[in-house]
Amino acid sequence: MFSLTTALLCVSALLPHAARAILAKNHPTPVNLRIEGANDTIFEGKVVTMGHNVTTASGGTHQCDGTNDGANEFPGPTCTSALADAAAANGFKWDATFSTEFDDYFITSIGNTTETATEFWGLLLDFQFTPVGGCQQEVNKNDDILWAFNAFNAQHFLKLDGPTKAKEGVPATFVVTDGMTGESVEGATVDGETTGVDGTVVIIFRARGVQGLKATMEGSIRSNQVNVKVF
Ligand SMILES: *[C@@H]1O[C@H](CO)[C@@H](O)[C@H](O)[C@H]1NC(C)=O
Ligand SMILES: *[C@@H]1O[C@H](CO)[C@@H](O)[C@H](O)[C@H]1NC(C)=O
Ligand SMILES: *[C@@H]1O[C@H](CO)[C@@H](O)[C@H](O)[C@H]1NC(C)=O
Repeated sequence: MFSLTTALLCVSALLPHAARAILAKNHPTPVNLRIEGANDTIFEGKVVTMGHNVTTASGGTHQCDGTNDGANEFPGPTCTSALADAAAANGFKWDATFSTEFDDYFITSIGNTTETATEFWGLLLDFQFTPVGGCQQEVNKNDDILWAFNAFNAQHFLKLDGPTKAKEGVPATFVVTDGMTGESVEGATVDGETTGVDGTVVIIFRARGVQGLKATMEGSIRSNQVNVKVF
């Protein structure tokens, strides 16, 4: 019997090595997904995703595997497949309209955060706006995907770095930068403390256990979470 697998193997055998590697790309791939809503983080964590069809209430069912609008030759995991898979696995809702012109979805809402006339959902990969839509933008293992509400009006895309272990009562230094530009961000809040001109902030933990820290600032997209084990 000439199965689909056999057919793929035959095609694959004819291709140069690099092309075979690309062809093999559409397999379950772990990526880091963060979704920053209007007032809170809707999701932040690992998601395993690959390119597949997705369905939304306002947009219907369409492929979402990187080949949309001919963006990539071969299917693979995408930013929007990651969103769809995280939503399905974690029980938050999302919606998007579909543009046949762009052959891609436009996200209208995630969780309880819905776009307005002036505030839209934006998509960043490794802290840079993607040049194409979320079903066209393929992702690699451990990429950082960020869906951010009101992204196009954001002053900074906050990024928090610091120790993941700290001793109770001993000052620990964290630093807030703009993930897009790498510049230090002054005036961001971390655990009630405010960053200085060099972006640093000193936190003294008063209780043991794991503390999740995020940086926030009015007009900016809140940061990734740093989990600190206080001992
Ligand atoms: C995926 O969606 C397309 C419509 O964009 C449809 O033609 C195709 O049959 C679907 N594939 C699967 C596997 O559901
Ligand atoms: C949306 O709002 C409802 C009602 O306030 C709340 O129960 C739910 O947890 C919210 N969902 C998300 C993803 O924030
Ligand atoms: C966010 O907070 C503002 C101010 O409290 C509120 O008006 C708005 O409805 C909230 N948005 C969401 C999506 O929860």
